[in-house]
Amino acid sequence: MSSPRDWWRSDVIYQIYPRSFADNDGDGMGDLPGITARLTDLRDLGVDAVWLSPFYKSPQHDAGYDVADYRSVDPRFGDLGDADKMLAEAKQLGLKVIVDLVPNHTSSEHVWFQEALAAAPGSPERERYIFRDGRGADGSEPPNSWTSVFGGPAWERLDDGQWYLHLFDVSQPDLNWGNPEVREEFLSILRFWLDKGVDGFRVDVAHGLIKEATLADWEYAGEILGGLTPEGAPPPPMWDQDGVHEIYRQWRELLNSYEPARILVAEAWVQPADRLARYVRPDEMHQAFNFEYLVTLWGADAIRKVVDRTSSANAAVGAPTTWVLSNHDVVRHASRLGFSDGKDHRNGIGVDDPQPDAALGLRRARAASLQMLGLPGSAYLYQGEELGLPEHTTLPDDFREDPTWERSGHTEPGRDGCRVPIPWEADSPSFGFGPADASWLPQPAAWAEYALDRQRDVPGSTYELYRSTLRLRKEHDLGNGTLSWLDTPADVLAFRNGDILVLTNFGDAPAELPLGSRVLLSSEPLTEDGKVPQDVTVWARA
Ligand code: NOJ
Repeated sequence: MSSPRDWWRSDVIYQIYPRSFADNDGDGMGDLPGITARLTDLRDLGVDAVWLSPFYKSPQHDAGYDVADYRSVDPRFGDLGDADKMLAEAKQLGLKVIVDLVPNHTSSEHVWFQEALAAAPGSPERERYIFRDGRGADGSEPPNSWTSVFGGPAWERLDDGQWYLHLFDVSQPDLNWGNPEVREEFLSILRFWLDKGVDGFRVDVAHGLIKEATLADWEYAGEILGGLTPEGAPPPPMWDQDGVHEIYRQWRELLNSYEPARILVAEAWVQPADRLARYVRPDEMHQAFNFEYLVTLWGADAIRKVVDRTSSANAAVGAPTTWVLSNHDVVRHASRLGFSDGKDHRNGIGVDDPQPDAALGLRRARAASLQMLGLPGSAYLYQGEELGLPEHTTLPDDFREDPTWERSGHTEPGRDGCRVPIPWEADSPSFGFGPADASWLPQPAAWAEYALDRQRDVPGSTYELYRSTLRLRKEHDLGNGTLSWLDTPADVLAFRNGDILVLTNFGDAPAELPLGSRVLLSSEPLTEDGKVPQDVTVWARA
């Protein structure tokens, strides 16, 4: 078993998206008291920790990733007292809590940006952000060619003629991490939450804080999942600059002064795997989401290769791998895997787009999750995946709030489809999300069947599958285990982790388990003669 000092090597961490988890006051927006009341459900599910997406004061132009005050709670979600209660309840239940830290940019409503707007070009107030004069005779051209990750230009011009950089929405000005004042402020914000007792931070856009010094032009689209550079393109000047590591080394020093261990997890869309591994060197962060695994299409060969490639890159720096299949930025894997067209469907699905095969998606999602949770390392779950929840793929466009929708000129549906409030009780208003029939994004009627109360204690339900899987994973300490592959036919992937054999069949011919295997878990029933059908994962002792 892992010691309390290195729990992050093996823990299963559940992502709570506060807007959409549980609504206590019935206004249709989730909140901290709602989360606190539902933590026992997460303890019962069997996760070790939770990560909360931002709940700080924010105008919510990017669902809270536009922070106006890093030390206060947005009234929509409660207040600091509610945060304390949530932390105390989690502690009581033995759940660790990771909060989100958004250091690449603030909200334009942050006092610093307001001060920068009021101050003159060249002032210390403007030095906290990335202000530049424009190009062209009258400075009316943006300082460089960068585009925003959400679409459109990455620069906005003020009335006094200067431009400021925003890699995301126009309401999210990028901070200047070359400025010591910015560094000091974030150390202080870290201390604030550490002193409140949080167990760690998920670091938003961890690969973006430092920009290449000359802000050189870069002609490629700023992709939503930036950092997965188009093939043949030069390295992007806004992502994965070497200077970011110094920042994390300083943060690690601060975290090391706290007991028990507090952690940093990088949201860094960085490839190849050995570049990403630099974020988890022993004196930097603890974890980095393995997005290369997340975006891998369903297939034995591709998955084996990505598991090997990423695990060995991390092992080279002594770090575990951090598996993840879904989050609030990508199409839920129960829908993503419902496509067989060889295309990458992670970036949102609109009503006019090709629709996934729901049954196939769920079948593969259950197999994928069972496989992921059998791998050594830590793993993140996204709220609702334990219910087998699909993406809302037919959300009427009028409801869309993701800035991507507007900024892309309505060409990218964006991420609202994975952010819909989750169903707890089939027969209650808003499916038990809150006390009223209110939900900031509409829930599809068909979601009654995914509700927790329709699945709890129901053998074979996705919820019970996750629960048994998490229990066995812990009993066999798989998070701290070692992987060794078995020789299998091309469409079958099988590995041993300690005394557990994990086998997934991707092909249409039923797969044989090794002689004498005792099946412990199976994502779907086996064939009558005990073979593993297509798109099924089995855990066995052999
Ligand atoms: C990554 C977050 O996960 C995403 O939701 C957000 O829009 C961007 N960073 C900008 O903060």
